[in-house]
Amino acid sequence: MNTKAGEMKAAGHDVISLSAGEPDFDTPQNIKDAAVAAIAAGKTKYTAPDGIIELKQAVCDKFKRENGLDYQPGQVSIGTGGKQILYNALMATLNEGDEVVIPAPYWVSYPDMVLLAGGTPVIAEASLQTGFKLTAEQLEAAITPKTKWLIFNSPSNPTGAGYTWDELKSLTDVLLRHPHVWVMTDDMYEHLVFDDFEFCTPAQVEPALYDRTLTVNGVSKAYAMTGWRIGYAAGPQHLIAAMRKIQSQSTSNPCSISQWAAVEALNGPQGYIEDNKALFQRRRDLVVGMLNAAEGISCPTPEGAFYVYPSIAGCVGKTSPGGAAIKDDESFATALLEEAGVAVVFGAAFGLSPNFRISYATSDQELTDACTRIQEFCAGLS
Ligand SMILES: Cc1ncc(COP(=O)(O)O)c(C=O)c1O
Repeated sequence: MNTKAGEMKAAGHDVISLSAGEPDFDTPQNIKDAAVAAIAAGKTKYTAPDGIIELKQAVCDKFKRENGLDYQPGQVSIGTGGKQILYNALMATLNEGDEVVIPAPYWVSYPDMVLLAGGTPVIAEASLQTGFKLTAEQLEAAITPKTKWLIFNSPSNPTGAGYTWDELKSLTDVLLRHPHVWVMTDDMYEHLVFDDFEFCTPAQVEPALYDRTLTVNGVSKAYAMTGWRIGYAAGPQHLIAAMRKIQSQSTSNPCSISQWAAVEALNGPQGYIEDNKALFQRRRDLVVGMLNAAEGISCPTPEGAFYVYPSIAGCVGKTSPGGAAIKDDESFATALLEEAGVAVVFGAAFGLSPNFRISYATSDQELTDACTRIQEFCAGLS
């Protein structure tokens, strides 16, 4: 969809893209200054393969301060984005045929990373009725003797769904009954939660899982640092050591300058995060309200992240104003782009249809224009 949207823009069409997975703000100045200072001080050489001790300590302090979790620097890995961390962990642990439970809708990279590492993704479909959250029964049914990991992501990309303490506890209770299953928790959107929702993470909710939990996070989304490529995780020391070996023999350390910038992000003033939350919450409410006013679309209000995942069940079977048959979410998204100039990502990519994902990390004006076009497009379906 992105490629097609790009081609249409290049050909002079008026296209609004709601497919970006990154904040539309600039990185805060204090973080940029820390990077400039690192360059000036010559911190431009190789570092330890999985990160400088100062950043590992800042990560330990963050986990203690924000999540009540105790980790030592030897239990921390720094990678080139959360993406590399997740990939390293799967490469370090999966043998041929090992299964990984992935709740759907899922972030697109999880199943492919599992396949690359020789594992077998086991998709457990969460439904619109449960707010796109996996239930204890579904998790129980997905676990087999071959299960190695559950990949858990809250708030979620693509749905924005965030698990409450009790909802997460019902899943960790299942894991307690299956001591061979580990949990890889992707907490990338931790700071983007709205209303009175309180973020929580598995090792915090069930301390008995501490020894089989890898808690993954990063600076990309919280500090608008997607291009700096710094992610991190904490977990059992032997797992972190195995991940270090893989990183050491593949990419070595993440960019030294970005690491110093991330130290400032984690240790510096945190007010930036609260300001962004208020802005994103306003945009979420704008988008949810306008989409629910579109004929045939039903859009739940997510707890966090900067995505919504509306259902288009009420549009399937109709024909677009331009004559396209709306068979599924892919044909809906294609017709929406070609006829209304709005680029979204269709749900099949995330493992649950018929839906599409909108990223509302863009200006109020663009969001209003795009949602108006979606309303007009839906009104024209027959
Ligand atoms: C759920 C989720 N996990 C991980 C990542 C990767 O983030 P990073 O930039 O730290 O590699 C993303 C980025 O889109 C994401 O949405």
